Amino acid sequence: MESPFKEDALKGKVALLTGGGSGIGFEIALQLGNHGASVAIMGRRKNVLDSAVASLHYHGIPCIGLEGDVRKKEDAVRVVESTAKHFGRLDILVNAAAGNFLVAAEDLSPNGFRTVMEIDSVGTFTMCHEALKYLKKGGLGKEPSCGGTIINISATLHYTASWYQIHVSAAKAAVDSITRSLALEWGTDYDITVNGIAPGPIKDTAGLSKLKPEEISSTFEKMPLYKLGDKWDIAMAAIYLASDSGKHVNGMTLLVDGGQWLSSPRH
Ligand code: HXC
Repeated sequence: MESPFKEDALKGKVALLTGGGSGIGFEIALQLGNHGASVAIMGRRKNVLDSAVASLHYHGIPCIGLEGDVRKKEDAVRVVESTAKHFGRLDILVNAAAGNFLVAAEDLSPNGFRTVMEIDSVGTFTMCHEALKYLKKGGLGKEPSCGGTIINISATLHYTASWYQIHVSAAKAAVDSITRSLALEWGTDYDITVNGIAPGPIKDTAGLSKLKPEEISSTFEKMPLYKLGDKWDIAMAAIYLASDSGKHVNGMTLLVDGGQWLSSPRH
């Protein structure tokens, strides 16, 4: 689908995406690149990163892949430093790395709960924390008065409650809270905007593939637009937030779910 944004909307910007090798993270990387950004993608699996980098290069996007796990502080430090060193600056951080599996609360071990909290919530905070010195106004390659932006990929599970996803729901609730707190503190002190995107059910993603067919069809019934979203929809929301179009939006988690949030869970 053709983008409604100008091709050079992000010209000269450098973006780092966790979980950028696949799924929604990869689509955001592709679209940021298509709109002029240089892109670094971080992920745990080398083969996935290699193929994502090859695909981004094929589209003419300046890109590097950096192996790392957002749960490890030393990986976060190395990846942020490597990105800034390679491209000379960092303007956009997208936290898209996430862990998920369906499990009843009574069958989930505390370590299973902790694992998803560590990837989604602590990982998001760690990456933001390490990227701050580059994102803030006056950071490497930046104007003294102009900071960068952070986009945290969230979910809608915790708006009500979602079966068998107590860990992800808690983790994404924390992510939304992190978004607001950093928007307040870092917007004030460093001219950094911090926002989130909460995708609803999106076609061809790991999140959706875990649902049973009957769960997907009942999802349709709850959506005023009566269709699944595309990864492209999430990427366009990211372009809006990362480009000048979204420069006065701060602390907001933008819902991109076809209006599914309007309905209560049907179980
Ligand atoms: C119950 C499980 C489990 C499962 C792991 N655990 N998988 N418990 N059911 N299916 C438990 C383990 O028993 C262990 O606890 C703990 O979690 C850590 O497991 P490990 O396998 O050692 O961890 P690790 O290798 O680090 O892998 C973590 C992972 C990861 C979260 C399971 O493999 C992963 O992220 N996979 C899915 C990635 C994914 O789908 N990403 C897209 C997310 S979609 P014990 O107690 O035994 O030590 C998304 C959208 C949300 O986020 C909205 C959807 C609608």
